[in-house]
Amino acid sequence: MGVLDGQTSLVTGASRGIGKAIAIALAREGSDIALTYSTNRDPAERVANEIQQMGRKARFYQCNVADPAENDKLVDQLNDDFGTIKVVVNNAGITRDKSFMKMNREMWHDVLNVNLTGPAMVIHRLIIPMIESGGGRIINITSIVGQMGNFGQANYAAAKGGLIALTKTLAREFARKNVTVNAVAPGFIETDMTSEIPEAALKHVCDETPMGRLGKPEEVAAAVVFLASPQASFITGEVLSVNGGMYM
Ligand SMILES: NC(=O)c1ccc[n+]([C@@H]2O[C@H](COP(=O)([O-])OP(=O)(O)OC[C@H]3O[C@@H](n4cnc5c(N)ncnc54)[C@H](OP(=O)(O)O)[C@@H]3O)[C@@H](O)[C@H]2O)c1
Repeated sequence: MGVLDGQTSLVTGASRGIGKAIAIALAREGSDIALTYSTNRDPAERVANEIQQMGRKARFYQCNVADPAENDKLVDQLNDDFGTIKVVVNNAGITRDKSFMKMNREMWHDVLNVNLTGPAMVIHRLIIPMIESGGGRIINITSIVGQMGNFGQANYAAAKGGLIALTKTLAREFARKNVTVNAVAPGFIETDMTSEIPEAALKHVCDETPMGRLGKPEEVAAAVVFLASPQASFITGEVLSVNGGMYM
C-alpha cells in the first residue's frame, strides 16, 4: 500500500535527473506515471520500463513544453491513455547561462519559455478536468536561484522567481476547487545540469551550504511525494526548500 495508490501523475522532463527520481518515487508510492522528455527518447523509455517493472502503468511522451502544439498533442494522448491527471509535476527546465550584459534575447526567451511559460500552459490545459474530477495536486519545481538570484542566471532566476509567483497565485485561485499548488525549490543537486558547473564553483557552492554537499535527486523527489500525498492536504502556496540550508 502506498500513499498514492490509484493516482495518476504527469512528470515533465523525467528522462533524467530530478524528474526521473520524482517519477520513480511517485510510482513507488502507487501512482501510475505519464512522463515526458524533450529529445532523449531512450532514457525516457528506460524510466517507463523501470516503473512498469514496479507494477505501475507508465507511458512516455515526447513534448517540448515550450511548444503549444506539442502541449496540445500531449494532452490528447494523456486523455486517451490515462483519463484525468490528478498530480502534475512541472519539472522540465533548462539553463542558458551568461552574465546579463552578454545575454542575448534568444537565451532570455528560451529559458522563460521552457521554465515559466511551459508550466503555465501545461497547468492551463489540465486544470479543468482536474477540478471536474474533484481536485488534485500541482507541484512546480522552481530553484534556490529563483529565491536568491545567481550571477550569470538572470533569465533562469526570473523564470524560477516567476514560477514561485505563479504557484502562489494559482494556489489562491484553485484553493476552493480542492487543488493545491505548491513549489519545491532545490538547491544545487547532482544532475547533468550541475555537471556543467566548473569544479571550483561547485566547491564554492558546497562551502556556502551548511550541510557541505550537493543534494541528490531522490532528496528532491521525497519532497514532491510529500506534497502529492494526503498528508499535505492543507498545504498550498508553499515553497518547500530542499537545499541543505544554503538559503533559509
Ligand atoms: N540540478 C539542480 O541543481 C537544480 C537545482 C534547482 C532546480 N532545478 C530544476 O529541477 C528541474 C530538473 O533539473 P535537472 O537538474 O534534473 O535537469 P536535467 O538533468 O538537465 O534534466 C532536464 C529534463 O528536462 C527535460 N527537458 C529539457 N528541456 C525540455 C523542454 N523544452 N521540454 C520538455 N522537457 C525538457 C529533459 O529532457 P531530455 O532528456 O529529452 O533533454 C530532461 O528530462 C529543472 O526545472 C531545474 O531547473 C535543478
